Amino acid sequence: MKHLLSINDLSKAEAINVLDTAAELSRLSEGTVKKFPTLRGRTVVNLFFEDSTRTRISFEAAAKRLSADVINFSAKGSSLSKGESLKDTALTLQAMGADAVVIRHGASGAPHQLARQQWMTGSVINAGDGTHEHPTQALLDAFTLRRHLGQDAGDLQGLRVAIVGDVLHSRVARSNVLLLQKLGAKVVLIAPPTLLPVGVASWGAEVSYSLDAEIESVDAIMMLRVQRERMDDLYFPTEREYSRNFGLNLERINSMKSDAIVMHPGPMNRGLEISADSADSTRSVIVEQVANGVSIRMAVLYLLLSGTARSESNSTIEVGV
Ligand code: CP
Repeated sequence: MKHLLSINDLSKAEAINVLDTAAELSRLSEGTVKKFPTLRGRTVVNLFFEDSTRTRISFEAAAKRLSADVINFSAKGSSLSKGESLKDTALTLQAMGADAVVIRHGASGAPHQLARQQWMTGSVINAGDGTHEHPTQALLDAFTLRRHLGQDAGDLQGLRVAIVGDVLHSRVARSNVLLLQKLGAKVVLIAPPTLLPVGVASWGAEVSYSLDAEIESVDAIMMLRVQRERMDDLYFPTEREYSRNFGLNLERINSMKSDAIVMHPGPMNRGLEISADSADSTRSVIVEQVANGVSIRMAVLYLLLSGTARSESNSTIEVGV
């Protein structure tokens, strides 16, 4: 596989290989050597058309720990503000010898277009496209679940994971539903009907409109950010009512299984989808998710790039087995 655009690009064995590789890189990083020469001479470009803290910084940290050169490119302050097209941007990156482009874009499908048009020869990694997918977020979430729920190897068979809130606008939810089910977990989506996409029944997950009806039976709860910036209409009557019905608070956490964990991809709206004391509770693995993001992104860069020649050639490698 040359690109990582969607969780659908990975077979179950390939997804597990990414998780296993991340686990090995994480283990090695705990030693005295923090930097590996694996991608020396390669160039990774972070091409961010939308804001990001965690994803952009962790891709940069991951690439640097593998000794790649990193170019950070954000839409603000670039010639994109003068109307430059995605094609001309890609051709510019190709001229600079990019071996991989990590792209976040507000338009669903933009990374696919970059890969399909072959404007550049390097790998394309989707760092979040519109409301479509965010595959490395789902991989780091699966990695975190595996570490916490005693399944450090293998799949997530037997786990029940709740994904709660603004599913409609969430690329994290879509990638997680695809990956968690691929790895054998059961997923229940919990949201008001207005925040579920048309066709959600075809996703293969259970759907519930009641957090309180589900919370006692899940092994992990993934709270989603209410994405106000994508809302052009009224999706719930008031924030207070949303929090009362779909927000996570300590009372709800106390009704969860004793080893169940609390997750959130960030950034959080503290006080809306998650209370501050829930986000900071002992059940919360939110900060650990961020740390695991570096290991997962190291694994993805390593698997996509380490076997390839530099960007002049158009060689491909297989991820995994
Ligand atoms: N989870 C996530 O994608 O966070 P950022 O928007 O900060 O990258």
